[in-house]
Amino acid sequence: MAFTKKFGIAAAALLGVVVFSTATLRAEEGGPEEQPKPARQSWSFAGPFGAFDKAQLQRGFKIYKEVCSNCHELHIPIRTLAQPGGPGFTEDQVKTLAATYTVHDGPNLQGEMFDRPGRPSDYFPAPFPNPEAAAASLGAPPPDMSLLAKARKYERGFPAFVFDALPIPGGMYQELGPDYIYAILNGYTHDDDPNWNLYFPGHKIAMGKPLSPSQVEYADGTPTTLDQYAKDVAAFLYWAAEPTLEQRKRVGIRVMIFLLVFAGLLYFTKKKIWADVAH
Ligand code: HEC
Repeated sequence: MAFTKKFGIAAAALLGVVVFSTATLRAEEGGPEEQPKPARQSWSFAGPFGAFDKAQLQRGFKIYKEVCSNCHELHIPIRTLAQPGGPGFTEDQVKTLAATYTVHDGPNLQGEMFDRPGRPSDYFPAPFPNPEAAAASLGAPPPDMSLLAKARKYERGFPAFVFDALPIPGGMYQELGPDYIYAILNGYTHDDDPNWNLYFPGHKIAMGKPLSPSQVEYADGTPTTLDQYAKDVAAFLYWAAEPTLEQRKRVGIRVMIFLLVFAGLLYFTKKKIWADVAH
């Protein structure tokens, strides 16, 4: 009896904490006026069963190629685009694409550096010879995009970060990076100042508003709005930062299933072993 009572109290206390913290979590999502936290978006690749939307990755790549790559480096091999679990380009498409880039190579047998068409094993060429040159011409060095979506996070604060880790609805939350990129691209809210950004720490960003509606053409009829562009390029950058995400999630699920089955087997083994022991 005493046990049931204690258990009841503990359960009630736990419920209280959960309800209270969820309320705080809701209140925090907007954040203070001056420096709001990026809002949480819904991504196809979120959660344990998450997977990339190939068409979205292809659109995001188009935006990177036509807009972002003028300033930002993306230090991954071009052939990554044909890897399974990615945008689904064929080997031939990637070969053709790679050949459109000019790669500085060498030295040749005469000891000279030379330019040649790119190959799938080359990395996407950087738009500037070094970060200093980029900073001199743009006011600040644009960060390499290969890890941007993983490297940029913001504080969710307590208790949100606890719930973000739990396997509960709305939990297991890892997409802060793409939420941040999406927010930055939508954060140019002062029309008179192209370098004012609501979500950039301190609001002054050296990158002038890089994207506007209808700037990039979409062949698949997807609306060419800023909102759509921001989502697509953020998804692409998340894939670029972790091209093997789908494999990782698949292995995770298999491990969980295995552990469940194994726990069941252990339980019955234990029952059998102890069956004849008086207790
Ligand atoms: C004209 C050059 C230019 C273009 C084009 C450009 N960027 Fe930038 N970007 C920069 C610079 C410079 C910075 C560094 C800003 C700073 O530190 O103040 C930056 C910073 C950023 C940041 C903030 C990173 C941080 O440190 O928090 C994000 C996100 C970003 N760029 C995304 C993009 C995306 C996505 C595109 C393509 C749609 C793009 N940029 C196109 C120059 C550019």
